[in-house]
Amino acid sequence: MAGKTSRIPGFYKLSLDERVKIVADFANLSEEEVALLKTHMALDIKIADKMIENVITTYQLPLGIAVNFLINNRDYLIPMVIEEPSVVAASSNAARMTREGGGVYTSSTEPIMIGQIQLVKVPNPSTARFEILRRKDEILEIANQCDPVLVKLGGGAKDLEVRIIETCLGTMLVVHLLVDVRDAMGANAVNTMAEAVAPRLASISGGRFRLRIISNLADRRIVRAWTKIPVEAVGGREIAEGIMEAWAFADADPYRAATHNKGIMNGIDAVVIATGNDWRAVEAGAHAYAARDGRYRPLSRWETDGDYLYGSLEMPIAVGIVGGATKTHPLARLSLKILGVKTAQELAEIIGAVGLVQNLAALRALAAEGIQAGHMSLHAKNIAVMAGAVGDEIDIVAEQMVREKTIRVDRAQEILKELRSKKEQSKT
Ligand code: MEV
Repeated sequence: MAGKTSRIPGFYKLSLDERVKIVADFANLSEEEVALLKTHMALDIKIADKMIENVITTYQLPLGIAVNFLINNRDYLIPMVIEEPSVVAASSNAARMTREGGGVYTSSTEPIMIGQIQLVKVPNPSTARFEILRRKDEILEIANQCDPVLVKLGGGAKDLEVRIIETCLGTMLVVHLLVDVRDAMGANAVNTMAEAVAPRLASISGGRFRLRIISNLADRRIVRAWTKIPVEAVGGREIAEGIMEAWAFADADPYRAATHNKGIMNGIDAVVIATGNDWRAVEAGAHAYAARDGRYRPLSRWETDGDYLYGSLEMPIAVGIVGGATKTHPLARLSLKILGVKTAQELAEIIGAVGLVQNLAALRALAAEGIQAGHMSLHAKNIAVMAGAVGDEIDIVAEQMVREKTIRVDRAQEILKELRSKKEQSKT
């Protein structure tokens, strides 16, 4: 993909076919893949009927492409599935700003997920803890027998932790099985292993096992994303300072932090859904991580020294590129191809970068013109398109409606009529 840029000015003004063509060229899509995009009904009802139970139809959502992303010096087009207007536009716009400072950089830990085994009625929890830890190799071996393929790929159960927790029903022993899940989201592999080791853990501890399930607080599977942007790129020092103050507000106040993080999740969930991943798992992990030190805090941080705006984000992102809907949903497969990702870790890092950029878009708008201006201008563009505007007409009609503070299809039609008759007159 070297040489192909994701910097595509005016992408939103193009027709659907033109957009598909650009994406197809960028990601080397085959004719069949392009045809699939153009059916607008990519998920066959027969596949859908096997994905969940009691199916009666499929449910469509828009899939848009965020442009301008430069992540780790590589250009990406970002597929986003979301019902909310402005998100894709805001993402593309803020990604353009980050390019001015070289884009977004990312790193991540190995894809380690935690399986929890709950042991109750353990007669001597402290001794049981030591007895379990002493038999670590034996227990990891039982777990790894469940998934020889994962082990062959370099993954598998790697470590054990034993926690003693005090509950309202007395002391419990909780064993954490740390599993490297490689390119999977990991829930299936981890749950199978947790169920396999539970009887042995119960017999060692002298207690009985209850729950055996993955933890969505995936704090061993962390993504980090950061960016350094010249303040001019976000509209100057004053706005950069406003972004920093917005972050400080969120850091001090959970009411604001919830909305701050919602803005991050606008970007994150849209890519998680486009790639067929479990967005509830990512949401649960994000919010639990945000509250890990006892108070709910923002997942990102923004600072400025007057010359640059520095943004960073750290959070768990448990996503896969094998298994589940990532394989069965044709558009999830296509989204992964458009992203050009080779590993789940790379996908998670891109998603983290999108979260940071989405957050920048929201905070920049809030610190400058306010969020409604952007919404209104996008809404006006949609109305202009509904009125029949094409190409450059869209912006002209939309801008006039915003200026007049009258955003209605009938007014858009009038403006369009005037515009076209002016154009005709200028020809004669
Ligand atoms: C709206 O979907 C998201 C925002 O509220 C995020 C924020 O306030 O930071 C704009």
